[in-house]
Amino acid sequence: MAKMRLDKFLSESSAYSRKEIKILAKTNRIIVDGKCAKSPDEKVDENSIITVKGVPVPYKKFVYLMLNKPRGYLSATEDAHDPVVTSLVPEDLQHYKVFPVGRLDKDTEGLLLLTNDGQFDHALMSPRKEVKKRYFARLDLPAQHEDIEKFASGMFLGDFTAKSALLEITEDPCEVFIEISEGKFHQVKRMCEQVGKKVMFLKRVAIGKLFLDENLSPGQCRELTGNELELLK
Ligand code: URA
Repeated sequence: MAKMRLDKFLSESSAYSRKEIKILAKTNRIIVDGKCAKSPDEKVDENSIITVKGVPVPYKKFVYLMLNKPRGYLSATEDAHDPVVTSLVPEDLQHYKVFPVGRLDKDTEGLLLLTNDGQFDHALMSPRKEVKKRYFARLDLPAQHEDIEKFASGMFLGDFTAKSALLEITEDPCEVFIEISEGKFHQVKRMCEQVGKKVMFLKRVAIGKLFLDENLSPGQCRELTGNELELLK
């Protein structure tokens, strides 16, 4: 098991800063495997049992968050003009420095994953993996049955030909579900335009087998459970 400094372990796994960890060690508030830690450069490993002020701190390098993205937010970590999705991450998880996994347009709502695990991001977003993304859309005009065939047969969108996509028309034909396995710029909106409809509202409801937790109101964010993470791996 690779060894690391105590302050690295704690700064990755908790919201304590290195400065705070130094003070906590000096004031005997950190216990490592039953012994009081004396200094932040003490060597520990991922299996070390560590408590700070009596509270256990398990080792955690990566976090995986589900956000119900509200409209008006950019899928970015910083921007000079608009609010960004990472500002919605709860304070106690801010130190993980997460970034959005893929993008939703500023006016799109719904399921957006955030992580600090680059490999996870790549595995989900790589076009070769063809992970399905499911959207709910409200259109300005009713969808027609012939549109289903056009979505399924792979549409030419000017700069690329979209892979076969699923269009499901609900009881109200202005409300549809669309499933795509790519994530090209404005793809859903462009596919709808191609069949003569304008998207008035767009919400992502699922990525692969993971559905948005409808108990999360727009702007709310929480960590994925172990089972949810398994659905994506
Ligand atoms: N397709 C779009 O047009 N917009 C999104 O935000 C996501 C998919």
